[in-house]
Amino acid sequence: MPTVTRSSAGLGATGPFAGAATGTVHDQVAVNVAALTELTRVMLPDLLAAGDGAIASIVGYQPAPGMAVYAASKAYVLSFTEALAHELRHTPLRVLALSPGSTRTEFYATSATSEKGVRFQTPREVVETGLRALDASRTPSRVVSGTRNRLNLAVLRRLPRRAALTIMANASRPT
Ligand SMILES: NC(=O)c1ccc[n+]([C@@H]2O[C@H](COP(=O)([O-])OP(=O)(O)OC[C@H]3O[C@@H](n4cnc5c(N)ncnc54)[C@H](OP(=O)(O)O)[C@@H]3O)[C@@H](O)[C@H]2O)c1
Repeated sequence: MPTVTRSSAGLGATGPFAGAATGTVHDQVAVNVAALTELTRVMLPDLLAAGDGAIASIVGYQPAPGMAVYAASKAYVLSFTEALAHELRHTPLRVLALSPGSTRTEFYATSATSEKGVRFQTPREVVETGLRALDASRTPSRVVSGTRNRLNLAVLRRLPRRAALTIMANASRPT
């Protein structure tokens, strides 16, 4: 059974950045960015020595007004993970940037994001997407979980930037 290393700890806070508490901003960068990077660095030699295994990180694609630090931290994770996937492409390790949409976990309670109109996936659906991608004969460097999430992302990326930012601002409104 290959080792799957999840660098999935993460937290998000809602509200305008101008009013954000120092601790909240610090914690998001410390956990979502610094800890993930350092844990990956520490684990990598053992994973490479084991000759099999996978690293899956939870990433984001869109800037999100109202969750500016959170979304920026996830953009870092996407960039970091895909670069790592390329660096390790000739090793037996598989490296995947997994992007969930809204998922029914504790996250929504702690980030205090509004649930109005949100279509949730279950954690099992997200994990199955990740494992399928890791099991593929050629592991992609990134995957978005859920058909609806993939469609939403495709539409968002084709919209003018200002319109996409407005949609994301509405989606990350606090409860
Ligand atoms: N749920 C969603 O809708 C959703 C959507 C997109 C991306 N994500 C991402 O998915 C990942 C997993 O989140 P989840 O949905 O499973 O949420 P979750 O149930 O709230 O789990 C978050 C995890 O992060 C850890 N964590 C939170 N704050 C921490 C801190 N200050 N220091 C150390 N560890 C901390 C928690 O540890 P404890 O259990 O010890 O508190 C927990 O293991 C996160 O990276 C999140 O950003 C979630």
